[in-house]
Amino acid sequence: MTRRRGRRGFGLLACGTLLLAGCGPAEPDRGAATTAPGPTAARSFAPGAAGVGDSYFPSYGNGGYDVANYTIKVRYDPETDKLTGTTTVRATATADLSAFNLDLAGLTVRSVTVDGAAARHARTDDELVVTPATGLTTGNGFVTEIRYDGKPTPLRTEALGEGGWLHTADGAIALGQPESASTWFPVNDHPSDKATYDVEITVPKGLTAVGNGVPKGKSTAGDWTTWRWSETSPMASYLTTVAIGKFRVTTAEHKGRPVFSAVTTQLPEGAPDRSIARTVEVADYLESLFGPYPFDAYGGVVVADSRIRYALETQSRPVYSAGFFRQGDNTEVVAHELAHQWYGDSVSIQRWQDIWLNEGLATYAEWLWAEHSGSSTVQRTFEQKYAGASAQVWRTPPGRPGVENLFGSSVYDRGAMTVHALRIAVGDTRFFGILRAWAAERKNGNATTADFVALAERVAGKQLDKLFDAWLFGTERPPLPKSR
Ligand code: TRP
Ligand code: ZN
Repeated sequence: MTRRRGRRGFGLLACGTLLLAGCGPAEPDRGAATTAPGPTAARSFAPGAAGVGDSYFPSYGNGGYDVANYTIKVRYDPETDKLTGTTTVRATATADLSAFNLDLAGLTVRSVTVDGAAARHARTDDELVVTPATGLTTGNGFVTEIRYDGKPTPLRTEALGEGGWLHTADGAIALGQPESASTWFPVNDHPSDKATYDVEITVPKGLTAVGNGVPKGKSTAGDWTTWRWSETSPMASYLTTVAIGKFRVTTAEHKGRPVFSAVTTQLPEGAPDRSIARTVEVADYLESLFGPYPFDAYGGVVVADSRIRYALETQSRPVYSAGFFRQGDNTEVVAHELAHQWYGDSVSIQRWQDIWLNEGLATYAEWLWAEHSGSSTVQRTFEQKYAGASAQVWRTPPGRPGVENLFGSSVYDRGAMTVHALRIAVGDTRFFGILRAWAAERKNGNATTADFVALAERVAGKQLDKLFDAWLFGTERPPLPKSR
């Protein structure tokens, strides 16, 4: 789903849906696109690219189409670790395609259709290449359905650890950044192509299966229960999650939206439950600073698996590792993951290099929450981080961290220090105006560091390039900004 400034993508979704009902131009006249060559010119259909061209991860995502919706139906049996899935992808061609790729790691593809007709399919590494019977024309919607099964295999990203579908003690967890989705469904696996999701997860009766977004109910047939989830706001693929197992589930309603939280029963009731229970309180506080909460649901999931040592801002329902609550209640991590709902999830990065936009703002939200809850002022946290940062942090530019340091201290701490330096330079009123405008103007979209700098300069009414150059791209410690 492509959403740029001032243009909402609803037309796109509607087109795909209408096309399903047969609204598209009848064959062979597929050329309704504005870029269509004249009647005598021959179209040349070519395969879509096997990557979107992200300089940090060239193989991520694919070229030539834009996904509007994934409808995913998976059945998983923890007993055998076998997953059986059918994924329907509704997309629009952005080039004249003779073939296109989807990212899929492991698993065996059984059949593929495009617009209801059988399509040829082939695998090379983690790519699924689909060749439809007829070419796909720029601007036209198409629907592809993939049936597949197998034992999921996690992905290893150099220096970033494991991502993807993990078989756990009592079920499974699908989680990971910068990639994880392709281990359980075929996907355009890059944050620049956001889409809505409808997910059904069928598991043995007695287990819970949590997904993103609004719970759509569950039904049991024989020994299997199907859990349904719907994420109606565009979502980046790495923000999808599934958590299957035995959970203590809490449901509620807040501001007319469903709250669904789950804590693994492997942990005794206590700090994780109490911390996650404060989700809506933290969200309301952040809403008072950043503007309206961007999604249709709230929640959190706490898991206990030694391979997951992080929390992740999975859309509308972050996943937290049990480790965060070992020393007792922890709402700072909740503030961090919830801040990502605005910065990272609703406003997403267009390329991985700009990850500081997510992590700098989410870390800054932790500082704000700490001040709000009376533990330390933001100014004091800033001074401590500035004084305590390692030589490596000053050597590593958060705006160009390199793949090795994508989730390093420079991105998080120096990223947050950059945010505070901006605040000192423009004053509180303009600063919070910048944060709110960023969330409002880029809602459900994608953006880059250059977009953020331009917006900050516009709202502040002054040039800020020297500040951002030093804080985001310099390889030395910038001077301590004078607070006012
Ligand atoms: N974005 C996560 C956070 O800051 C951290 C993270 C990076 C992560 N890579 C991950 C979490 C892989 C889970 C899996 O909250
Ligand atoms: Zn984060």
